[in-house]
Amino acid sequence: MPTATITVDTQQTIGNVDPRLYGSFIEHLGRAVYNGIYEPGHPSANAQGFRSDVIAMIRELRVPIIRYPGGNFVSGYRWEDGIGPKELRPRRLELAWRTIETNQFGTDEFCQWSKEAGTDVMMAVNLGSRDGDSARDLVEYCNHPSGTYWSDLRRSHGFPEPHNIKVWCLGNEMDGNWQIGAKTAEEYGRTACEAAKMMRWVDRSIELVACGSSARGMPSFGAWEATVLDHTYEHVDYISLHAYYGNRDGDLPNYLAQSLDMDLFIESVAATADHVKAKKRSNKTMMLSFDEWNVWFHSNSQDAEIPEWETAPSQLEDRYTFEDALVVGCMLISLIKHADRVRMACLAQLVNVIAPIMTETGGQAWRQTIFYPYMHASVYGRGVALKLGVATSSYESKALGTVPWLEAVGTWNVEAGEATIFAVNRHQTEAIELTGPLAGLAGYRVVEHITMTHTDPKARNSMADPNNVRPDSNGNARVDGQTLAASIAPLSWNVIRLAKLQE
Ligand code: AHR
Repeated sequence: MPTATITVDTQQTIGNVDPRLYGSFIEHLGRAVYNGIYEPGHPSANAQGFRSDVIAMIRELRVPIIRYPGGNFVSGYRWEDGIGPKELRPRRLELAWRTIETNQFGTDEFCQWSKEAGTDVMMAVNLGSRDGDSARDLVEYCNHPSGTYWSDLRRSHGFPEPHNIKVWCLGNEMDGNWQIGAKTAEEYGRTACEAAKMMRWVDRSIELVACGSSARGMPSFGAWEATVLDHTYEHVDYISLHAYYGNRDGDLPNYLAQSLDMDLFIESVAATADHVKAKKRSNKTMMLSFDEWNVWFHSNSQDAEIPEWETAPSQLEDRYTFEDALVVGCMLISLIKHADRVRMACLAQLVNVIAPIMTETGGQAWRQTIFYPYMHASVYGRGVALKLGVATSSYESKALGTVPWLEAVGTWNVEAGEATIFAVNRHQTEAIELTGPLAGLAGYRVVEHITMTHTDPKARNSMADPNNVRPDSNGNARVDGQTLAASIAPLSWNVIRLAKLQE
């Protein structure tokens, strides 16, 4: 039987959890924008065409920041196409996803929508087919108060106040040959450096993210980060990471181990950034923005040809299983474990496209399996990240070596008097009887032990059956004196919520 002891000690901190660790992503891709968040004529749409049923679900997730407008899309985007009177906006061939972009939704609409969704904007600029010049114009359009060409144009479009976007991504996945305007590390490093300078000269308060490799498996990985940071170190605040996992060969133990790859990825990028810091004798520590992460493989494995040059076709509409939700849970634990370096992260994506929220065009919205671990981490995983002393038995996986049966991390929100333990049991048949001391949490008791389990790892939700996989507050965690005890069911996601009892 797999066993685990777990020591929770409020002195063993990893770092503060930046709320932006629970960000997400909306790209002009498939039905993410059109017929996702924006569907004029839908029964729940407001005067701007924003679906309020989708906004309500996003609010449940407490999404702090959303990356926009891409993704691959941004590398060919002319942001000027998406502003001003809608009837004058051009229809364009969109080369990244081979669709028609109508530009009926653009920068101003997204900023307006994000306010309604209660989230901040992480804006990506096009450094593929364009350069720093168009990027600095966009910063001026969005953030300059008034009295210049671009800021007054924004005002004339009905937005007298600046959008005040703080976080800006310098392009997207620029090392990928699928990217419009892909670059070598030298070319991108120089372009990003000059763009960063101009953008910050327009608004000194912005934060900038340089593109890391598009995946850990890229041949250029490592060398790319070192070269790009060589050029940009003093001009940017974050280097990005992107990772998608999948159960392509149907090997569940191996699939559940993939968060260990995410751990290694984060640690390698931090080490590479620290190498550049040392070379430059810099006092600044580069932070990481894991601005695309998720499970993504179901839609890739389908053979169906996607028709070209359509408006908002169904693309990348992965239907997530229960086992996918466990992997997403393990990935969230990995992010929290690295909260000292990963300040921002974006679940890619949010609506319809590899997403926790799905919509029927003209119909209802529903939650996929991965909605729940993401919501729990975002709602309960705030405060300081706690490094748990976890002693657990392990198994050998095909690709990732020795893997603990129990994956766990904690957070402590001292002001709210709440602590949370997130845990996944990777064992398919055996429960883990978990026990261990609590230090620094005198007076804390279990207020809820949420579990998510299912008899079928391949179980999914659907519009017809939206609650097939969903969490329940039925766990048995308890505190006895200063000791926590809980049964962690086989193949389960767990959220053990502790709160300080009122005196
Ligand atoms: O999220 C889907 C795509 O994955 C993004 O457009 C791109 O950046 C990544 O390759």
